[in-house]
Amino acid sequence: MKLRLGVNIDHVATIRNARGGDHPDPVRAAIMAAAAGADGITAHLREDRRHITDNDIDRLMAEIDLPLNLEMAATEEMLDIALRHRPHAACIVPERREERTTEGGLDAAGQQDHLAYFVDELTDAGIRVSLFIEPSERQIDAAVRLGAPVVELHTGRYAHVDGEERTAELKRIADCAALAAKNGIEPHAGHGLTFDNVVPVAAVPQIAELNIGHFLIGEAIFTGLEASVRRMRELMDAAR
Ligand code: PXP
Repeated sequence: MKLRLGVNIDHVATIRNARGGDHPDPVRAAIMAAAAGADGITAHLREDRRHITDNDIDRLMAEIDLPLNLEMAATEEMLDIALRHRPHAACIVPERREERTTEGGLDAAGQQDHLAYFVDELTDAGIRVSLFIEPSERQIDAAVRLGAPVVELHTGRYAHVDGEERTAELKRIADCAALAAKNGIEPHAGHGLTFDNVVPVAAVPQIAELNIGHFLIGEAIFTGLEASVRRMRELMDAAR
């Protein structure tokens, strides 16, 4: 099974928004990422619109050929937007206004009643729902109960620890990917992945997609976006 790469373009918008105006354009970045081997584009429309805007979502839907994975909080506002645009996929993420990024996974187990409505509404609209969760059996079990077709395993902790702790975290990710697949759920993974840490995660055979953003956009400052995406693709392909 080929491992897909979803390129998250949020931080192109972060740089644009630092000055207002149109440059750099995240839609142009999405088109370049596609040319460099991305299989999908991921964008997180946050409640505070700190990077991606509603207009970016309009343009991404109209102007790119790749499937769009819309990351969204489980709120009525985001649900309306998703139902209006019908992206290929919606990844439900936890969102706290004061956090710098999505710092932890969704508590799918603790919030099952709240999430069930969003999973059902999105699914009924033909949108492939993914739940961004910590790699834990409890969360996978909740995803099974919710009927989500996809889970995205949060690799943030894996990315931020070293040595034995990283080995243990990788095992949690691999075990959860296997458990998800056994239950008919497609496992994805993402957060904090870089050229230096992507290979062991990419080598987990059940994982079907990685969503990577901050590092690729940062690296693009030095090497260009195409080179940055191409290198990530090569590392991912070599790991399989
Ligand atoms: N997957 C999800 C669900 C995310 O929220 C994010 C960050 O927005 C990513 C993947 C990408 O993480 P990073 O920007 O650290 O590569």
